[in-house]
Amino acid sequence: MNRKLIAGNWKMNGLRADLQTVGDVAAAVSGAAAAPETLLCVPATLLSQAALAAEGSALRIGGQTCHSQQKGAFTGDISAPMLKEAGAAYVIVGHSERRTFHGETDEIVAAQAQSAIGSGLVPIVCVGETPEERSSGQTLTVVAEQLKGSLAGLEPATAFVLAYEPLWAIGTGKVATTAQIAEVHDFVRQFLIGRFGEPGQSVRILYGGSLNPGNAVEILPVSNVDGGLIGGASLKAADFLAIYNTACALQG
Ligand code: 13P
Repeated sequence: MNRKLIAGNWKMNGLRADLQTVGDVAAAVSGAAAAPETLLCVPATLLSQAALAAEGSALRIGGQTCHSQQKGAFTGDISAPMLKEAGAAYVIVGHSERRTFHGETDEIVAAQAQSAIGSGLVPIVCVGETPEERSSGQTLTVVAEQLKGSLAGLEPATAFVLAYEPLWAIGTGKVATTAQIAEVHDFVRQFLIGRFGEPGQSVRILYGGSLNPGNAVEILPVSNVDGGLIGGASLKAADFLAIYNTACALQG
């Protein structure tokens, strides 16, 4: 069994006052090998302060995207080395909101993942289908295509995380059923084994989409679910920690 990863994605939420949440989470999580790993992906403006607030604790801090280049004339963008220097250990790439609102393609996502790895960050590569793709029976085809494109060029032994986030479940309160999650996660696992061999077993596959303290108890034990990528419920320490505690109980 892989060590679970309970990761929060604050998206475009968080001002300095919210660093209290980082401190509260940091104070409550354990670094024991038997406990799940924890991560909060905060806005870039808060990264270095969040890293300070988490210093000395088991909580890791991450970014929400990075540019595919290490530096250059890309106004407004942030590179992987910048995130790393600010204190990030992880970075999300290919989140559906980046794919939708910023036109990020599988090719771009693959380049971002490579850049993250080259800078010593662990990328969390996101995939997931739209409601139309699900209702027309295209889910596995779409996910396979995204996996193929977004993981292009990755070496078998590289540390990375995969996140399955069906678009129709993000921020909607509409959660995928455990059967739907198991089907996609098992499929992703087979893909990873096919692509990377044995190391594909230890790539963690997170579920994301309206995960909350109420449904975590059903979702986290599902086949090949190695943790969660949590949006709304990661903004409050109590909610995030409730999900973490559920994962602790499963891990132990
Ligand atoms: P919600 O948990 O708010 O649905 O967001 C999920 C998500 O997009 C995490 O990356």
